Amino acid sequence: MKILGIETTCDETSASLVEDGKKILSNVVATQFEFHREYSGIVPEIASRKHQEVINYVIEQCLKEAHLCFENIDAVAVAHYPGLIGSLLVGLVTAKTISLSLGIPLIGINHLEAHLYSIHFSNSVEYPLVGLIISGGHTLLVTSRGIGSYEIRGSTLDDAVGEAFDKVAKHLGLGYPGGPAIEITARAGDETAFEFPRVILNAGRDRYNFSYSGLKNAVINQRKSFLRKGEENSTQNIAASFQAAATDVLLIKARWACEDFKTDRVALAGGVANNERIRRLFSEEKSLISYLPEKFLTQDNAAMVAGLAYHKYLHGEISNFSLKPRSRLGSIVKGKRKKYES
Ligand code: KG4
Ligand code: ZN
Repeated sequence: MKILGIETTCDETSASLVEDGKKILSNVVATQFEFHREYSGIVPEIASRKHQEVINYVIEQCLKEAHLCFENIDAVAVAHYPGLIGSLLVGLVTAKTISLSLGIPLIGINHLEAHLYSIHFSNSVEYPLVGLIISGGHTLLVTSRGIGSYEIRGSTLDDAVGEAFDKVAKHLGLGYPGGPAIEITARAGDETAFEFPRVILNAGRDRYNFSYSGLKNAVINQRKSFLRKGEENSTQNIAASFQAAATDVLLIKARWACEDFKTDRVALAGGVANNERIRRLFSEEKSLISYLPEKFLTQDNAAMVAGLAYHKYLHGEISNFSLKPRSRLGSIVKGKRKKYES
């Protein structure tokens, strides 16, 4: 079964054809970061306009690379939440149009669940597992008993981990997007140079929550005090020490969750899972079996949408034309847990 996936939740326009949830026939991603760079962050209005400009071309290119035409598609899937409303609408309207004109099923997909699905392309995944979805917009710790069954255990109380990378990078003058820039700069630095706080939040219901704004402010203040004193400062050392503090916390919480929920399997997903230090940290952790997506599948892409949609289809989870875009994941209120079967 060949499913066309469409992803336009944020600032990447992507279309992908995936066969039977596993075989990626094509995956085209048009990134927009050059248009957002001068603002050091995503401008929603620019994002939706750019999606609208390139979506048809991206889908055509996706079909071309797979050597297929519209008539070969069995279903169309679209990430319809969470994300930027204007961006989501572009993908949603396109998917509905394709579904209606070809008479094929429409499958609405949760973007974060799709991120977690990305581990399936390169791993033989067993359950239960602890999942860490770490991106520019989210830092979620979930437990999963299988595809479609999740319990959210924790989330960030302030900045998402990717957001902290982006803001620190901006402050250090390293450009946008900040994650890759920090990682590259950190390679030439000493991660023990500065003792930045690991904000652990061990108490009660915060055990699986995260907080990154304290770390971000500590880095910014440290740098300011250097500049004030006119001291030589090392951007590389600051970047490396920040990266170490930001990523150590992820492993600490994943270990706790595995212990508490009696599993040794951890899945990482989302743009920040591209980070080499995180990948090394989890791969080298002997007590855990870590499932990592291939690097090209960590960023926003439509292969993860089409892959997950195959399983939704098998479970009869077909959407109707009232499918709407939604900016938020749901009622995940700070510190509260929410159980959902997607
Ligand atoms: O999943 P994603 O592509 O988009 C969202 O859904 O947010 O994640 C983007 C985030 C950005 O904050 C970016 O700085 C971060 O992922 N990121 C990284 C790395 N590559 C991307 N963070 C740390 N290290 C990286 N190598
Ligand atoms: Zn994402």
